[in-house]
Amino acid sequence: MPLAPGQSISGFDCGDPQINGGLQQHQESDYSSRIIVAVDAGEKVLGYYAVSAINIEFSNRPKALPHSLSEYPIPAALISHLAVDKSCFRKGVGANLLIDALQRIEDASTQTGIRLVMVQAATTGARTFYLHYGFIPVAGQPGRLYLPIEQVSKLFRDLDR
Ligand SMILES: CC(C)(COP(=O)(O)OP(=O)(O)OC[C@H]1O[C@@H](n2cnc3c(N)ncnc32)[C@H](O)[C@@H]1OP(=O)(O)O)[C@@H](O)C(=O)NCCC(=O)NCCS
Repeated sequence: MPLAPGQSISGFDCGDPQINGGLQQHQESDYSSRIIVAVDAGEKVLGYYAVSAINIEFSNRPKALPHSLSEYPIPAALISHLAVDKSCFRKGVGANLLIDALQRIEDASTQTGIRLVMVQAATTGARTFYLHYGFIPVAGQPGRLYLPIEQVSKLFRDLDR
C-alpha cells in the first residue's frame, strides 16, 4: 500500500543505513516518486520500494531495445530502493514487492508510453535478486538493470498459466 503521511516506519532495518534513511527522507519530503510499503498485521513496515517516471535519453538507451524507436527520450519507470527488513529476508517479501511494482507499471504502460522498467541495485545481493527475475544489466551503468515492458507482460502471462 502507499506510504501514508505519519505512518510509523520506526524500526525498519534492511541492513543498509543509506537505504533505511531513504525511507525516512521520502516520508519527510515531497519527492517525485511514490513509496509503496508492505506491512504486517500490526502495520510494521516489512519492506518498501520507490517508483517514479523517468525519461531515458535516446543516446543512453539500452542497446537491445527495438530499432524502431524514434530518436526521442524513452519513457520508463524506475524502481529504486526496493528493500526488505532484515527480520524477513528470503521469505518472499522482496519478490512480492517486485511483482507489485511490475504490476502497477504494466497497468500504467497501457495508458502511457512506458517502454521499459529500470532498476537501481544498490548492493550485489540486490543485483543478484534482479538478475534472478530476468533483468538485464545496462552496459556502462553499474547497478542499473532493465526489463523491456514486453517482458514484464510476458512474465504475468507466464504466472497466469
Ligand atoms: C535484495 C532483497 C530486496 C531481497 O528480498 P527478499 O525478501 O530477501 O527476497 P525473496 O525472499 O523475495 O527472494 C526472491 C528470490 O530472489 C532470490 N534472492 C533474494 N535475495 C538474494 C540474494 N541476496 N542473492 C541471491 N538470490 C537472492 C531468492 O533466492 C528467491 O529465489 P526463489 O524464488 O527461487 O526462491 C533484500 O535481501 C534486501 O532488502 N536486502 C538489503 C537491502 C538491499 O540490498 N536492497 C536493495 C536496494 S536497491
